[in-house]
Amino acid sequence: METDFLVIGSGIAGLTYALKVAQHCPDKRVTIITKTVEDETNTKYAQGGVAVVNDLEHDSFKKHIEDTLIAGDGLCNKKIVEIVVREGPKRVQEIIDLGAQFDKDPGGDYSLGREGGHSENRVIHYKDVTGKEIERALLAAIHKQKNIELVTHCYVVDIITQHHLGYLVTKSTTDIECHGVYALNEHTNRIEKILSHITLLATGGNGQAYRTTTNPVIATGDGVAMVYRAKGRIENMEFIQFHPTALYRAGVRGQAFLISEAVRGDGAILRNSDREAFMEKYDERRDLAPRDVVARAIDSEMKRTGTEHVWLDCTEMDLVKFKHHFPNIYEKCKSIGVDIHKDWIPVAPAAHYSCGGIKTDEWGRSSIRRLYACGECASTGLHGANRLASNSLLEAMVFAHRSFEDSCKVILGDEAFKDIPDWNAEGTTEPKEMILITQSLKELQQVMSDYVGIVRSNVRLERAERRLDMLHEETESLYERTVLSPQLCQLRNLITVGYLIVKGASFRKESRGLHYNTSYPYKSKLMQNIIL
Ligand code: FAD
Ligand code: SIN
Repeated sequence: METDFLVIGSGIAGLTYALKVAQHCPDKRVTIITKTVEDETNTKYAQGGVAVVNDLEHDSFKKHIEDTLIAGDGLCNKKIVEIVVREGPKRVQEIIDLGAQFDKDPGGDYSLGREGGHSENRVIHYKDVTGKEIERALLAAIHKQKNIELVTHCYVVDIITQHHLGYLVTKSTTDIECHGVYALNEHTNRIEKILSHITLLATGGNGQAYRTTTNPVIATGDGVAMVYRAKGRIENMEFIQFHPTALYRAGVRGQAFLISEAVRGDGAILRNSDREAFMEKYDERRDLAPRDVVARAIDSEMKRTGTEHVWLDCTEMDLVKFKHHFPNIYEKCKSIGVDIHKDWIPVAPAAHYSCGGIKTDEWGRSSIRRLYACGECASTGLHGANRLASNSLLEAMVFAHRSFEDSCKVILGDEAFKDIPDWNAEGTTEPKEMILITQSLKELQQVMSDYVGIVRSNVRLERAERRLDMLHEETESLYERTVLSPQLCQLRNLITVGYLIVKGASFRKESRGLHYNTSYPYKSKLMQNIIL
């Protein structure tokens, strides 16, 4: 297959970019590839909303910029923060113009929620299913656009560079160029090459590297792993954000249901097993301190009391308002026998968001020519050491737009495609035991959760690295011998991502933002972004 613009991923970043390039260049072909069904994305699960300066009477760009910089703990790129905050309102208006709904108050103004680390109410939302609504509006527009083809159940294995033409490519190669991707098309069960003039990676996060995560199963860090293999630049992988309040279910692993931070924004209080509202012991902003602070406080309370969760007390909140703002959360709690009016909700931290990723510049360009990255897989410089709540949907919209503007300038539609060889599957055989893959995945998630979680130490990181080395060796050998499946590729990518998180964490000789290492409990003036 040949296409002009190739987009990997059908979340907010990929769809926004695809729609813009397709509308701007009606004579060009735009192809979106996604590995399962079209809407199975992190985007679909976003609850709280989009942080954006909307009400200039009470809020200002300056305050949103300040809040983002404070959360980022010294590592944000100030220029990028300014860009995202100032261009954000225009991008949000575009998604509203596309038909996405956001709640309004009785006076007709947007209803603004509050989340940790924000000095003002500035989170616009559609009930507690904001991401689902955005995804719906974008997909509806995509389906109307004639020059877009959306291919589902197509798993991208690797990006194609001159390495595939037989040239030596190393970390010091300065002109690495992307020619498209190899993808496992589950409709044909073949690995096909898809050649493109411009490729955008919008592959989302990597929460599946951990035992419990708010992310769905698609979040396996594929884009980051592919770029790392292709010798592109990856940055700040140690900054994994744990959401403080995922719904706790005894013995359940994998995707955990989120209890939005906006619930605390509306007045819910965290309590430990002694019924104590413990956050005041940790931070003067109490339950609305930034996520790193709240997640560490919960972790410390759980360790101190020997419990696997704490409680979220919503019993003093107005039930009618709760049901109106959080119908999905209300119903989910009810379905497991928790009546939020009377009962406390059991919650525990879960891996939620990857602040680092593929290093990009202010136009979404990666270090590889013709390859852009945006959304959660990218490291733009906005989040620094800790993402401010609800800044990521905004970031995805702003950088999808910037990548669109830049890539439309550079596309050379009439240039001939290189003669790229077909995928070579010689010598591989059908996998005999899927258990080898599922068991290794469990081991990886266990290692990452036990040794590279909210609190780290040098000993734990060294131990994690040794365990990952073994998993890497075994999985590479399986990869060489076996007919590829998405499961095997995802395991391989998650091991790479785990390795990058451990490496970033080991290089960072300090504690900062989301990275807390008991061997270096303080911030160092010397540490900057870590590029791998
Ligand atoms: P995604 O939406 O995750 O899309 C990734 C896409 O890439 C998918 O289509 C996937 O199939 C595809 N893909 C991946 N790998 C491959 C491959 N190898 N081949 C083919 N396709 C591939 N942020 C906020 O700002 N506000 C919120 O309120 C908020 N709430 C959240 C709640 C939850 C439960 C979660 C999990 C996240 C939340 N976030 C929130 C974060 C935010 O939702 C994500 O960061 C954002 O949606 C990521 O969008 P994306 O387009 O980058 O990736
Ligand atoms: C939430 O609703 O708590 C999630 C918001 C986010 O991750 O930005």
